[in-house]
Amino acid sequence: MNVKRGSRTVHCRTVGFDVERNAVRLIEQRLLPHQFRIVSLRDYRSTAKAITDMIVRGAGAIGATAAYGLAQGMRAFEGSGMKAFKAHTQEVFTVLAEARPTAVDPVNAMRWMLLEIEGLRTVAARQARALELAQRFADEDVEHCEAIGVHGAALIADGARVLTHCNAGWLAFVDVGSATAPIYAAHAGGKRVHVYCDETRPRCQGASLTAWELAQQGVPHTVIPDNAAGWLMQQGKIDLVIVGSDRVLGRCGAVANKIGTYTKAVLAKRHGIPFFVAIPLSTIDWHTAAAADIPIEERHESEVLGAWGLDARGKRSYVRIANPDSHGANPAFDVTPAELITGIITPEGIFKPEELWAERGRLGGPVG
Ligand code: MRU
Repeated sequence: MNVKRGSRTVHCRTVGFDVERNAVRLIEQRLLPHQFRIVSLRDYRSTAKAITDMIVRGAGAIGATAAYGLAQGMRAFEGSGMKAFKAHTQEVFTVLAEARPTAVDPVNAMRWMLLEIEGLRTVAARQARALELAQRFADEDVEHCEAIGVHGAALIADGARVLTHCNAGWLAFVDVGSATAPIYAAHAGGKRVHVYCDETRPRCQGASLTAWELAQQGVPHTVIPDNAAGWLMQQGKIDLVIVGSDRVLGRCGAVANKIGTYTKAVLAKRHGIPFFVAIPLSTIDWHTAAAADIPIEERHESEVLGAWGLDARGKRSYVRIANPDSHGANPAFDVTPAELITGIITPEGIFKPEELWAERGRLGGPVG
């Protein structure tokens, strides 16, 4: 999407790859909205750490990063012995898969790559193919988000006020975003749309990332405290909710997303407001049967007990907010059951969450 750099506007992807240097290139998202910087990760362990430390975050973006990381790790292997190469590849896969547990996109992306290279006989052929596949995953992520925009824009009436939670925008993908795709498409189509961005404590992806990217695209928006949504709904100021997801269970339609999503879904139901979830196909988990089996990441308490921002001198710093002796709990995601969800916006169209399993043939699920 577009980024304003001084007087210029440049088009930029969230995740990229430098073939010559065998490096993964990422927007350093922890510095946004105050600084725009691209970082280069030179080996797969640094790439995995960038996922863990949230230099890059968001399901699709970490999916593409893991795909490139897997190719990067394979390309770093020296030699031609297939047995050693396979063991090395498994190690790379494990390190990247464990970088963050809740989003399924990294594992889906890497498993698909491993299946696709299985028949290749030489190390060199596998290394070359892995990079092509990572590139394809990244390109398809963009295509999926664009298709979500086409289907989802029809849900947005002229003058609509849309609530979104966290950042499922282009920063959470390679480009375009999932929850933001219908908004960008409606805006580009000339509809007036106003977005309410939940600030999304503790890391404030809504206030810092969604608000920043909407501003870059010129979409009118307002940042609200997480606990203001119910009041706005009661006042009739929200027409529609669109969120993203880190993992949708294909068998039952349950949706894991940033902590606080469930609360918004309950509120939307209470107020009769449509609640949509926008996802590319890589976010569907066809194997896990029950919501209780989704691994929910528990992050460090410091994120809850304080916050990062710019101090009076413009230096990025952390300030303690909570009582000095108190501890915090920091579950990063929650799960919204299917009955609270109006529809899932996919690149293949909009489905009821309970319809996903029956439609698995169209949605890239297991056949048979
Ligand atoms: O912890 P994050 O920032 O990686 O969380 C991911 C998210 O931004 C949200 O849960 C988002 O709504 C889904 S990711 C497309």
